[in-house]
Amino acid sequence: MPIFRIAPSLLSADFARLGEEVRDVVEAGADWIHFDVMDNHYVPNLTFGPMVCQALRRHTTVPIDVHLMVQPVDALAQAFCRAGADIVTFHPDASTHVDRTLQLIQAEGRQCGLVFNPATPLDVLEWTIDRLDVILLMSVNPGFGGQGFIEHTLRKCEQARRLIERSGRDIRLEVDGGIKVDNIRRVADAGADTFVAGSAVFGQPSYKGVIDAMRAELARG
Ligand code: DX5
Ligand code: ZN
Repeated sequence: MPIFRIAPSLLSADFARLGEEVRDVVEAGADWIHFDVMDNHYVPNLTFGPMVCQALRRHTTVPIDVHLMVQPVDALAQAFCRAGADIVTFHPDASTHVDRTLQLIQAEGRQCGLVFNPATPLDVLEWTIDRLDVILLMSVNPGFGGQGFIEHTLRKCEQARRLIERSGRDIRLEVDGGIKVDNIRRVADAGADTFVAGSAVFGQPSYKGVIDAMRAELARG
């Protein structure tokens, strides 16, 4: 069985108490903290920047998984690397020079990944997979939490898993959007090993209750 990771998204956390929210969700069993950066340009919403990441860094030692929904990418990618991000992912369609952006993140000593929107094909992986630590598949259109899971992501997930296996590399396959206790098993069956969950976790009274229930589904084999 793969080592599964659950990455709660701070997008659905209480922004007025972010440090506490990070500590609470890590105590409840989060493996990564998913940090959604929106710029009101690449996506129609606006969240937080590198200074907030830096401020949260001292609240936890678990990896901070920065998902950049910004255009242009490079300057912010570098700023987040320096603000304590462990993993930085971006949308290839938002970068003019995808390979350069990947190299820039690697040069900062961080893990890098590409993010694919629901309608974006995986073609670019042919020439990038050798650099990647993470492939992140969007199962909703980026910009908002609380949307419904787009079913065709399952087929794309199977395709990405085949490409990872063919590469022989140790690459995380992460899925983001509409993940709940009642569909996480199907997403894992399609080949995902890392699961972002925003509203499913932060919308609930017990973070541990949800994370435990997700792990129980994943353990069902
Ligand atoms: C959407 C973000 C997601 C979002 C997921 O643009 O990238 O990480 O927070 O939220 P839920 O789990 O509520 O769909
Ligand atoms: Zn995200």
